[in-house]
Amino acid sequence: MSGVRVVMPSEMSLLDGINSLRSVRKFKPDPIPEDQVRIILDSASKAASGSNTQPWEFVIVRDARVKARLKEPMLRTWLARLAGSTGMSPRMRDVYDEATEMLRNTEKVPVIIYCCVDLNRVGKSEEVRYASIYPAVQNLMLAAHAIGLATCLTVHGSTLTRGEPEVKKILGIPEHVKIACLIYLGHPSIRLGLPRRKPVENFVHNNRW
Ligand SMILES: Cc1cc2nc3c(=O)[nH]c(=O)nc-3n(C[C@H](O)[C@H](O)[C@H](O)COP(=O)(O)O)c2cc1C
Repeated sequence: MSGVRVVMPSEMSLLDGINSLRSVRKFKPDPIPEDQVRIILDSASKAASGSNTQPWEFVIVRDARVKARLKEPMLRTWLARLAGSTGMSPRMRDVYDEATEMLRNTEKVPVIIYCCVDLNRVGKSEEVRYASIYPAVQNLMLAAHAIGLATCLTVHGSTLTRGEPEVKKILGIPEHVKIACLIYLGHPSIRLGLPRRKPVENFVHNNRW
């Protein structure tokens, strides 16, 4: 595996990892060693992509000053979006409050990773573009989880109305590269239970809808 040795907690099988992955929004300040980031990115790069084009580009941000600059457009557009949302359930409100707090703490999160697609290296159809980056992002999150790190996927900075032009400018991301999503990465400072999801019977259709 490109010279990278993976030290996996032996008790975490792939299925254990998939079934226990959560979105963690509170992180310890401890830095993430370079070799761990390498393991995570190496795992991301093993994902499938349309015609094996591997159109992903990852921008790893560790510098707190850069993170603080990135936070400005992302937080501003998020708060504007929140101000326009009504009729939220209490549970949803809690998730949004935690999401806002994480965003406010962006510069304190050890590593943030912008997951991008090079539009020149992927098919023209939109479905292939995004379907060619999200498997890599999921691999990235599972690999982080497998080595004891925590992640939270967000779409901050990924569209015009979420501050993408400013984020791309700060990071020097070229015109033909699109931000797909953002991963917050660090050591978890809280322990979360298993994911709460609907039972399979609620969404599976056999032979026809
Ligand atoms: C497309 C997408 C966008 C998301 N955006 C945010 C976000 O902006 N802020 C955040 O804190 N979490 C975000 N999340 C994480 C979800 O809120 C989380 O997966 C969901 O609440 C279920 O929680 P769990 O992953 O801990 O089980 C996002 C997840 C996805 C897949």
